[in-house]
Amino acid sequence: CYYTKVDKSLCIACGSCGALAPDIYDYDDEGLAYNALDNNSGQANIPTLFEDDLIDAREACPTEAITVQQTPFDLS
Ligand code: F3S
Repeated sequence: CYYTKVDKSLCIACGSCGALAPDIYDYDDEGLAYNALDNNSGQANIPTLFEDDLIDAREACPTEAITVQQTPFDLS
C-alpha cells in the first residue's frame, strides 16, 4: 500500500507530477500540486494500477515536494 502527499511549500509548479501521474496529482489555482484522490490528506490508498506512475512522479519532482509512504499520513 502507498499513500502520498505534496508539500506545497516546496512545490515550484513544475508540472511533472501531473504529467506522469494524472490520476493522482492535480494542480490548484496557483499551479501547485496536490493529491486529488484525497485532497492531499494522504489518507487514500493509491490504487495498484497507479503505483508505477506514483513512483515515477516522486522521482521526477525537482524539489522533492512529493512524499510517499506505506501508511496513511498523520492528520495534522
Ligand atoms: Fe510541484 Fe514537484 Fe509536482 S514541483 S508540480 S510537486 S513534480
